[in-house]
Order: sequence, then structure tokens, then C-alpha cells
Amino acid sequence: MKRFPGVVASDGVNLGVRQGEIHCLLGENGAGKTTLMRILYGFYQPDSGEILLSGKPVKISSPSVALAHRIGMIHQHFRLASTLSVEENVILGVDEGMGPFLRLGKTRKRIAAITEEYGLSVDPKAKVWQLSVGQQQRVEIIKALYREADILIMDEPTSVLTPQEVDQLFTTLRILVDDGLTIIFITHKLDEVMQVSDRVTVLRQGKLVATLPTSQTDKPSLARLMVGREVVFRLEKNPPQQGEKLLEVDRLHTLSDRGLPALRDVSFEVYGGEILSVAGVSGNGQTELAEVLTGLRKATSGRILLGGKDITNRSAREITDDGVAHVPAERIKMGTVSNMSVRENLILKDYRHPPFCRGIFLNYKKAEANAQRAMAEYQIAAPSDSSAAKLLSGGNIQRMVLARELSGKPRLIVAVHPTYGLDVGATEQVRQVLLRQRERGAAILLISEDLEEVMELSDRILVMFSGRVMGILDAEEAETGEIGLMMAGGRREGVRR
Ligand SMILES: Nc1ncnc2c1ncn2[C@@H]1O[C@H](COP(=O)(O)OP(=O)(O)OP(=O)(O)O)[C@@H](O)[C@H]1O
Ligand SMILES: [Mg+2]
Repeated sequence: MKRFPGVVASDGVNLGVRQGEIHCLLGENGAGKTTLMRILYGFYQPDSGEILLSGKPVKISSPSVALAHRIGMIHQHFRLASTLSVEENVILGVDEGMGPFLRLGKTRKRIAAITEEYGLSVDPKAKVWQLSVGQQQRVEIIKALYREADILIMDEPTSVLTPQEVDQLFTTLRILVDDGLTIIFITHKLDEVMQVSDRVTVLRQGKLVATLPTSQTDKPSLARLMVGREVVFRLEKNPPQQGEKLLEVDRLHTLSDRGLPALRDVSFEVYGGEILSVAGVSGNGQTELAEVLTGLRKATSGRILLGGKDITNRSAREITDDGVAHVPAERIKMGTVSNMSVRENLILKDYRHPPFCRGIFLNYKKAEANAQRAMAEYQIAAPSDSSAAKLLSGGNIQRMVLARELSGKPRLIVAVHPTYGLDVGATEQVRQVLLRQRERGAAILLISEDLEEVMELSDRILVMFSGRVMGILDAEEAETGEIGLMMAGGRREGVRR
């Protein structure tokens, strides 16, 4: 049992995990998955209850005790030191009582052995900030294996990965369990549960609902167990009402963090009332595109026009003030201030403008009312609007960022993976929100690697590969196979509208 102020996050849970299995943990946002695993990892102490390892009660008073019991955890949000190299991160905090040179030599050998054995390819000398999210995750896994973990806890490892990276990860996990490791895997995706797990446990509001062998259940039953009622997914999407041209991108070029070309001659337009999706395998320029459009990265050439006004290389603040909303992929790092309250986070964008400011003062009443409204509309579960953002569950942080970015009627919404980390219900809800904004006449640029989502939401689909536009397709006519081919650089289409 684990209580937090106002909520019982873990309520009399009896979880049994067998050695050598992949055990999925399923539940809605805030169901208590992360909390339960953090107890196992020594990050939190339970208020009552005990942990048995191979039948023996153990007291896991801190993460280092967990490591000593060979329990490793890969967090929902990575914790690597971004300015250090891969190998430095792997050995960080491991004291082997050797001189630095000796140690590095030995480390390199072991890292090489681990990467080879489990198919975790990554350049050991690269700095972490240069790596894609998928590569960073591999570093986290290598780090845990380097510490000789027998039990590996993974908190939503796939929500930030591309379909290819997910396949790769699953292959690695299979090799790991064949080697005798035990894996506890948190996910929101029912397909993944069915694909990868041996058994699955469903949590709801802190309580354990069921533990089942995966072969004896199916997606609809799991969804029902998770939500506690029948789940029907249906999106109401009206025919497009194309408005005026809101965004015009003209022969845009930019560089990546590594100084290599990230966007090459990118041109497209987005109209009010439409959703234009950018499909592509991650690392093909999508993030850079979102950053250039929102003022977080400089264009090296080309132009960006918003409603006819040139906003190329303006500051993020100016662009925000011009009505551009940004739902960033890295929501914790870029989208929130974790020590600030939910209320403050919700007005981060607007605190300089009425009604939230009065002269140089913040209007607390207005900020509070705004928070109450946003929390109700987006179903943000938090003890109160004055709780620090870092106390929210992963999915609820996500909802908070969305609530802030979509308030104030933006003209253009740049949404990067807006549904990752959200449970089935919340995913549908966010998609509805985007469709509502589209009805309202906003122009939406949706960057997503989830082809299903792309097909479901978009009016047009732009496929990117290697920083270039491979083609723009009408969503009505587009086929998944064709898009997949273009995502792999297969074919260059004439740009259609
Ligand atoms: N340190 C904390 N202090 C106060 N409340 C907390 C803390 N950590 C978690 N909670 C609360 O406990 C509940 C369970 O949170 P938890 O993070 O375990 O959910 P989760 O199942 O991992 O959800 P998600 O899918 O959104 O990541 C939530 O209501 C959350 O707000
Ligand atoms: Mg969580």
C-alpha cells in the first residue's frame, strides 16, 4: 500500500512475477503503475506490505539497494547525463575500485560484449545529446545490463519509439528473457501486450484487477478490465472545410544539432481547417521541422509565412504570440517546469498577458479559475491545482501541456507525437481535441510516427525522408503500403495537393 496526499496510488496490490517472463503492466494514466514499480526499485517506501525476492522478504530502501538485488529500472523519462558520452553514462556511479584508465579499457570491452550479444547497437563514444530517443533507450538498457540486472523494469519503453525501433526492442527483450532475465514492462498499447508478454497484470485506480496469461485474453477484454466498462472507439470526423492558407513553408533548410543538413528544400502549405500530418521514421527531420516552425531552431535558408507574415527565425516568444501552439515531443524537458504548480504551468505561455497579469502582478484568481477549467476539460488528475507538476503521472503531465498549448485559440498547432504515453481513453480524447480545433478552423501540423493515427486524423499526409519531402498525399487516397515505402525513401512522388 502506498498513499500520497489525496490518493491511494497502490492499494493492496499482490503482484507475482515469474523468473524468465515478460510481464506487462497495464492501466490508465494515474492507475499506479509507475508508483508500484518505484516501490520495487526502492524509490518509494510502501506504507505497508512487503516485497519477496525468490521467496525471501527483502527491504529495498533505495535504488542502490535495488541494484544490489539486481533490479534495474528504465524510467518513463530517461535520466542520462546528456553532455557525457555513452560509455561515461554507463559507468557513472559504478565504482570498481580501479584506476580510471584501466577501468575505461575494461568498460569498453564489456560494453562491446553487451551490445553485441543483445543487438543494442550504439556508438560508445557519442555524446548522449546527439542520440535519438531510441538510441538513448539502448544506452539505458546497456547501463542496466552493465550493472548485472536480473530483473529489468521498463516504464513505457515504446511510447517514444518508431515501429522499427519497437521491433528491435522486442527482439532484444526476447534474447534477454531467453538468457534468464525477468522483464516487467509497462505499456498502454494493447497490441504490444499481445505481441510481447507472457502474462499481463491490469491495474485500476491503484488496485490490481487481474493477472492473466496473455494467451488466454484479448484486446477487448484487456481494455474492459483497464477502464472498468465497455470501450467504444469512434472518431467523428467531418469532411474538411478548407480555409485560408495559414502556413506557407518555402524551400526551408536547417541543420541538425550535429551540424548536418536536417531539412533540405522543404516546401508545403497548411490551410485553416485541415490536419496535415508529417509521416516519417524518426530522425528524418521531423523534430527539426517542428523546432524551426516554433522558433526553437534557426533556418539556414528559406522562408516561413504565417498568415502571409514572415516569421522566419523569429523568437519562440514572438511566434507564440502570433498564435502558434507547440506540443513538443519532450514534454518534461521542454514543456513543463516540474517544480512549478499545475496552475502555473498552465499559464506559462500567457502569464505576461491579461487576464493573468495585472501590471507586473499575477492575477491569482484568474490563474486558478483557468486551472480549474483546464483540469476539468482535459481530465487532468492532480490532488489540486497547486500541486507541483512533477507529482503528476506521466500521462497527466501530457494532458497538462496539451491543455495549455491548445488554450487561447491558436491559429497553427504544431503537435509532435501528441498521444504518446496516453492511455486508450486519453488518446481518443486528444484526437477529438485536435479534430475540434480543426473544425474551429485552426491549421494543424501533426508529426507522428503512428501510421494508424496519421491515417485516422489527417486530411493530407506529407512524407519525409532524410530531410526531404518525399511527397504529399491526399489521406483519402493514400495507402499504408505506399506511405511506408516513401518513409523508407522508396519513391519520390510529384508533390500533389
Ligand atoms: N510523488 C508523488 N506525490 C504525490 N502523488 C503522487 C506522486 N507520485 C504519483 N502520485 C499520484 O499517484 C497516482 C498514481 O501515479 P502513477 O505515476 O503511479 O500512475 P501511472 O499508472 O504510472 O500513470 P501514467 O500512465 O500516466 O504514467 C496519481 O494520482 C499520481 O498523481
Ligand atoms: Mg507512469
